[in-house]
Amino acid sequence: MSSLRVLISAEQIQARVQELAAEIDRDHPKGPVYLIAILKGACFFLADLARAMKTPTRIEFVGISSYGKGKTSSGEVKLTKDLDASIEGYDVVVVEDIVDSGVTLSYLIKIFAQRKPRSLRIATLLDKPERRQRQVDVNYVGFKIPDEFVVGYGLDYAEDYRNLKDVCVLSESPGGTG
Ligand code: IMP
Ligand code: MG
Repeated sequence: MSSLRVLISAEQIQARVQELAAEIDRDHPKGPVYLIAILKGACFFLADLARAMKTPTRIEFVGISSYGKGKTSSGEVKLTKDLDASIEGYDVVVVEDIVDSGVTLSYLIKIFAQRKPRSLRIATLLDKPERRQRQVDVNYVGFKIPDEFVVGYGLDYAEDYRNLKDVCVLSESPGGTG
C-alpha cells in the first residue's frame, strides 16, 4: 500500500514559480529565451514558468532516459529525443523537475554547451542536494528537499501521479494488503 503526504502545496509551487520567472526575466531582459524542458517530468513546470515570464520565450523539449520504471537510477543516460531547433547564439534555460544525482543534467549540459548557445542556465523546481554525485551549477532552484521520493506536479512513480497539483512524498508501507 502506498501513501501520499503533501510536501509542497500547489499554492507554494505557484508562488515560487512567479519568483523564479521574475529572476529569469531579470537575467534575460531581451529574449527570446529558449526554455528546454526535459521530458516528461518538467512539462508542467515549463508551462507555468513560461506563462509567468515577461521575456519572450521559445519552448523546446528533450527526451532523456535515466531512471527506468523504478525509484533507483540505472546509471545510464541516453538522449531519446533531441531538440527541434538550433540553440546557437541564443540564451537557453534548461528546465528540470528535480536534480537528484546530477547525472542527467551534467550529461545534457555538456551536449548543449557544444552547440554554442549565448548563455546556458539551469532551472529546477526541486533539488535533493544530499544525493548529488556529479557537480552541476543550478542557477534557479524552486525548493531544496530532503532525500525522499516525491511525486506530483510532473514527477512520477512508474508513470503515475504526474497530474497531482501538489508535490507529495510517496511512501510504501511494506506488507500492506492493498
Ligand atoms: P538525476 O540524473 O539523478 O539527477 O535524476 C534526475 C531525474 O530522476 C529526474 O528528472 C526525475 O525524473 C528522476 N527523479 C529523481 N528523484 C525523483 C523523485 O523523488 N521522484 C520522481 N522522480 C525522481
Ligand atoms: Mg525527469
